[in-house]
Amino acid sequence: MSCSWKRVPFLGCLRPARLPPRQRQQQQLLPSSSSSSSACALEPKAAPLPGPVCPRPPCAPSAPPPPPHALAALPGPTKWPLMGSLLDILWKGGLKRQHETLADYHRKFGKIFRMKLGAFDSVHIGAPCLLEALYRKESAYPQRLEIKPWKAYRDYRKEGYGLLILEGKDWQRVRSAFQKKLMKPTEIVKLDSKINEVLVDFMQQIDILCNENGQIEDLYSELNKWSFESICLVLYGKRFGLLQQDVGDEGLNFIKAVKTMMSTFGKMMVTPVELHKSLNTKVWQAHTKAWDNIFKTVKSSIDSRLKKHSANPSEDFLCDIYFGSQLSKKELYAAITELQIAGVETTANSLLWALYNISCNPDVQAKLFEEIQSVVSDDEDPNAEHLKKMPYLKACLKESMRLTPSVPFTTRTLDKETVLGNYALPKGTVLMINSHALGCNEEYFSNWTQFKPERWLQKTINPFAHVPFGIGKRMCVGRRLAELQLQLALCWLVRKYQIVATDDKPVETLHLGILIPNRELPIAFRKR
Ligand code: HEM
Repeated sequence: MSCSWKRVPFLGCLRPARLPPRQRQQQQLLPSSSSSSSACALEPKAAPLPGPVCPRPPCAPSAPPPPPHALAALPGPTKWPLMGSLLDILWKGGLKRQHETLADYHRKFGKIFRMKLGAFDSVHIGAPCLLEALYRKESAYPQRLEIKPWKAYRDYRKEGYGLLILEGKDWQRVRSAFQKKLMKPTEIVKLDSKINEVLVDFMQQIDILCNENGQIEDLYSELNKWSFESICLVLYGKRFGLLQQDVGDEGLNFIKAVKTMMSTFGKMMVTPVELHKSLNTKVWQAHTKAWDNIFKTVKSSIDSRLKKHSANPSEDFLCDIYFGSQLSKKELYAAITELQIAGVETTANSLLWALYNISCNPDVQAKLFEEIQSVVSDDEDPNAEHLKKMPYLKACLKESMRLTPSVPFTTRTLDKETVLGNYALPKGTVLMINSHALGCNEEYFSNWTQFKPERWLQKTINPFAHVPFGIGKRMCVGRRLAELQLQLALCWLVRKYQIVATDDKPVETLHLGILIPNRELPIAFRKR
């Protein structure tokens, strides 16, 4: 697949899959989905969050739980000296196929297992009961694996850290500054007209780019441009012109810098960044220069926006966040930069897979089209109000994220000893939370290979079985924005075009930080 956009491996660690044709803040952070959570033999069901307080101890004392096992007792693939299980992973298709290998390990070793890759030691969890237990034991400031190259650049240039790399109280402070605007549904819906503004241009672009068969060369790049423009309009109130025929220098240089930054930092995740920095390697130079350019554009875009709206800050998304919080400019620059980096490819990738999945399932698409037609009249543009009446549309997106999640896993580094699945995991343990393995587990999703949006309408799915945006306090802060973008985009696209499959040859998923298809997707847009 010819994709020039590099991946966002901000969250992950490491056999071809043939894809079938404020009530309380804590509650807000539960994974989406429906009602109950299932019981699991490995973990006693925790008490409900705001449960009643029992005045007396129960009459009959229950047997004390068995003492937890040590970390060393965890099952897992053979750990060879020095290499750990690296050879097995390579043998089974390499790091690009690791999501499939890890799902197989879960089938073989169960809901929790331990794996070593060289010196990298991790514990993998892939069961709703364990995610729920983790969520209930979560500390005040959960941590993910460090992205050292990003931190090295920020320290070098004395720039700030954003949400992807911040930790502790600083993370919480910045997070709460953004949380109000980004996670509150009543705030997010206000962004529908901005998202639609970009979609109008995107639809025109599709018409221009389609060949006589309705196919678009490098559709993924075009979706990335849409997502980039959309987020930039929300964050900076500015268009970079990527959906126009003559893209200006500023837009081109910006996306080039993001691409270079992304393609260089992976190399410094596997070799020590300090070494690159002290030897001033080409990778370090390119990485630094790319970040310099990114920060230059972000700073000037933010400055001009703050200047423009400072008289009425509450009317503007960014000004409201800045003037309503105690954030310094340095913190704002870093946080906005990272929102943009985290939000572009993930959203584009999710739309790509959704289009593919509905192209393989014409019956689903017909039902979706019917729902859209019944809610939005021909002379209207779809908006956030319409979306409230479209359960099937939301189910289609959920189902697509279950089968083909953009971010197959996220991580946690435990900051205290935690018992999970009756294993005592010491402080410092790296946990891999595998949402991909959950989505392809027959126990949680019957006939899991089938694309069946209807399963989401039945309200019987355990919310901890579907975590494409992560869980708990560190869950994706852009989730609601991404969902609004995806729902509106799908409405516009399905209303205007029939999305058809142009061949039925297998499409495999490759893991490059996010899951991408191994070839150009066989999709065509046919005007209705
Ligand atoms: C479909 C699109 C998206 C997917 C699948 C996705 C997925 C994720 C996941 C899995 C995490 C890790 C959560 C965890 O560790 O529990 C995450 C974190 C994050 N995402 Fe997203 N994301 C998407 C869109 C966005 C957008 C649009 C933005 C920005 C507006 C964004 C900004 C972030 C940030 C800043 C974090 C770090 C949050 C923190 O640590 O406090 N994401 N995302």
